[in-house]
Amino acid sequence: MNETIYNFDSCPERKGFGSLKWDKYKGRDILPLWVADMDFRSAPEIIDALQARLDHGVFGYTIPHEAPIEAVLNYLEGRHGYAARAAWLNFLPGLVPAINLCCHAFSEPGDSVMTATPVYPPFLSAPDYAQRELIKVPLCLNGADQWTLDFDAMEAAVRPNTKLFVLCSPHNPVGRVFTQAELTQLGEFCERHDLVLISDEIHCDLIFDPEVSHIMTATLNESVAQRTVTLMAPSKTYNLPGLACAFSIIENSRLRAQFQKTIRGIITEVNCFGYAGCAAAYQYGEPWRQALLAYLRDNYALVREFIEQEIPEITFRPMQATYLAWFDVSALGLKDPVGHFEEAGVGLSDGTPFDAPQHLRLNFGCPRHHLRAGLERMKAAVAPR
Ligand SMILES: Cc1ncc(COP(=O)(O)O)c(C=O)c1O
Repeated sequence: MNETIYNFDSCPERKGFGSLKWDKYKGRDILPLWVADMDFRSAPEIIDALQARLDHGVFGYTIPHEAPIEAVLNYLEGRHGYAARAAWLNFLPGLVPAINLCCHAFSEPGDSVMTATPVYPPFLSAPDYAQRELIKVPLCLNGADQWTLDFDAMEAAVRPNTKLFVLCSPHNPVGRVFTQAELTQLGEFCERHDLVLISDEIHCDLIFDPEVSHIMTATLNESVAQRTVTLMAPSKTYNLPGLACAFSIIENSRLRAQFQKTIRGIITEVNCFGYAGCAAAYQYGEPWRQALLAYLRDNYALVREFIEQEIPEITFRPMQATYLAWFDVSALGLKDPVGHFEEAGVGLSDGTPFDAPQHLRLNFGCPRHHLRAGLERMKAAVAPR
């Protein structure tokens, strides 16, 4: 099927291209399985669209225009059942600046911002950079294996000065897809405490578990929609993070005005290639995405089986989405887990900036032989102990 047409088994050489992921380990034999970009070539339909834009030869300032706006609106409605309007959109060169600017836009210095940990590190640094206080509420286990929001702990931790809840849905790094019930309960929590709900849904099209599907927070009901700021991008799914094109969706006109005032003069326009890639991804990228998900599903199964059978000292819980596996390595008793595995030739993300020391994150968005080699190196690093 498409999976074989697209050939995810091979990838171009990335060393020497200024790749954050690959050039980190210059001169060292380390397989990079860390930062969240995949090693696959993007969809041919996207590459063709970028080529056509390149052939135009004029790369002037670019404003939001019909092609990306239409592609985004059709995508939101077609894939997620969200009938958004063009006026609710803001195109942005990245979601990390958006998370930071949300802290400025929707709270005052000295206010507090709540999130559930472990979580993508910019969620934890953004409040601090804006001189807001960070309230971290650890996710809890729902039964043996599934991470969920700890509503009791959230109720105990929320304060009168708490203004924002920042949600990662699906969740990076634990790979959870939240259910309608969980999201509804979160919406009620935000209403009770009058919090703006920042919903980062960048991983929403990377669900490989066929049993679950993504629910956009803003589609829960009208009152949740009115306090939600949705952050999205085609970048994770279609492997376009270097094109720097993301967008926010804000229905509430007061919140939208606050956000637009805050980003004014600070956030640059998205460049012409970002728009071209975004439009092509949502218009033509679906067959490639389906093939990608099939490949990621098998890579996930490989990671699961390998860890369970070959390195049972590592705790790895089932996940439903993303290409980022989250390992609890505390049983290995390592002083420096990242350094230990780098010595063995495999580069992983450190859990510490996610607020989880003794955890590691592995990116399985790579050719399978490459993933297998990384896992073998991890096994060798644990074996002699
Ligand atoms: C939850 C989440 N939000 C945002 C980003 C990055 O967004 P951007 O590259 O648009 O700044 C990532 C990247 O891994 C992520 O996992």
